[in-house]
Amino acid sequence: MTAPAAETSVFLAACRRRPVPYTPIWIMRQAGRYLPEYRQLRAKVDFETLTRTPELAAEVTLQPLKRFALDAAILFSDIMTPLQGMGVDLSFAPGPVVREPLRTLAAIEALRELEPERDVPFVLESIRLVRAAVPRDVPLIGFAGGPFTLFCYLVCGRPEKEFETARAFLYSQPQASLRLLERLADAMSAYLAAQASAGAQALMLFESWAGLLAPPAFERFALHAAQRTLAALRGTGVPRIYYVNQAGALMEAVAGVDAEVIGVDWRVPLDQVRRRLGPDKAVQGNLDPAALFASADELERQAARVLAEAGPAPGHIFNLGHGIWPQADPQAVARLVDYVHDRSARAAPAAKALS
Ligand code: CP3
Repeated sequence: MTAPAAETSVFLAACRRRPVPYTPIWIMRQAGRYLPEYRQLRAKVDFETLTRTPELAAEVTLQPLKRFALDAAILFSDIMTPLQGMGVDLSFAPGPVVREPLRTLAAIEALRELEPERDVPFVLESIRLVRAAVPRDVPLIGFAGGPFTLFCYLVCGRPEKEFETARAFLYSQPQASLRLLERLADAMSAYLAAQASAGAQALMLFESWAGLLAPPAFERFALHAAQRTLAALRGTGVPRIYYVNQAGALMEAVAGVDAEVIGVDWRVPLDQVRRRLGPDKAVQGNLDPAALFASADELERQAARVLAEAGPAPGHIFNLGHGIWPQADPQAVARLVDYVHDRSARAAPAAKALS
């Protein structure tokens, strides 16, 4: 069972808004192309094979943990991976490409129901391998794509600047859209529940593109489906993180979602985020990924600003506001991780060691 880690992990304590001795930090997309050791492996093995081979996925998951004092690991996989298990013909170039975009109700109904143990056993095996390899105080985050973000790729077929084809589909075929979102919501709750059973100690839903929607459309399509996924996971007992990119206009709607932690991008200061979400949510974020390109002093000033805006109340997990860029310097990441730990430990005189 996974219970003992809950008492020793600073990350899990922060998810539950308990006092912590320092602010925990991890980095979205922390395993990936900015790491030379990842590029070295990728020169020999394609991305899909990496994600489908548990020994390799576990190795890549652990790469950033060997370099940096990160407070959580995140499984190396992709939000699109489980869709292959539902019968979607998919490749990566490097962004996801769907051979036959879903544009009809018949195609949507023809998707296979996801049975994680049957359809994505390699993901669950990767989780077991990582759990066996990481220290107990560094929890493993399992994740899935938010229903609307998956919808964007499935309907468009390939990344579009503002996913115009998918957004038009919402309005031209609202019933088919709702059906696809419902099917994705149910598949992702089954997928995340299976990850928790395999040993994932937190679950994150990446809703990268829902910020493209106006608030009423966000609520009707994206939030409703995400809520369906998240509510079904309440019984797992592991903290749920709902990340919405570009959520500046959506914060009041997001506040009502059934999740312990809200992840936000860098466009809204965390003091404002906290005010608008209310006291019942922990927050995760939100340094601009571009700040990693600043001088060492300026990077520290920017990190200090994020910590100050998060304030002294418990329930802050430091992160970037979106994924780290492939051009980022690993040394800047090392500086950021150490600085966040040092600065927050000094600023938290009342913080006690975890019991
Ligand atoms: O370290 C981690 O965070 C775990 C690994 C991870 C990947 N993708 C690996 C990956 C995670 C959590 C994701 C999530 C993901 N994938 C999201 C949500 C987060 C976000 O960034 O908004 C989205 C939208 C995708 C879809 C996707 N997959 C894109 C747009 C791309 C290509 C461009 C890019 O950012 O790399 C991928 C491919 C992908 N997923 C790569 C990696 C390391 C690059 C593949 C390669 O090595 O060539």
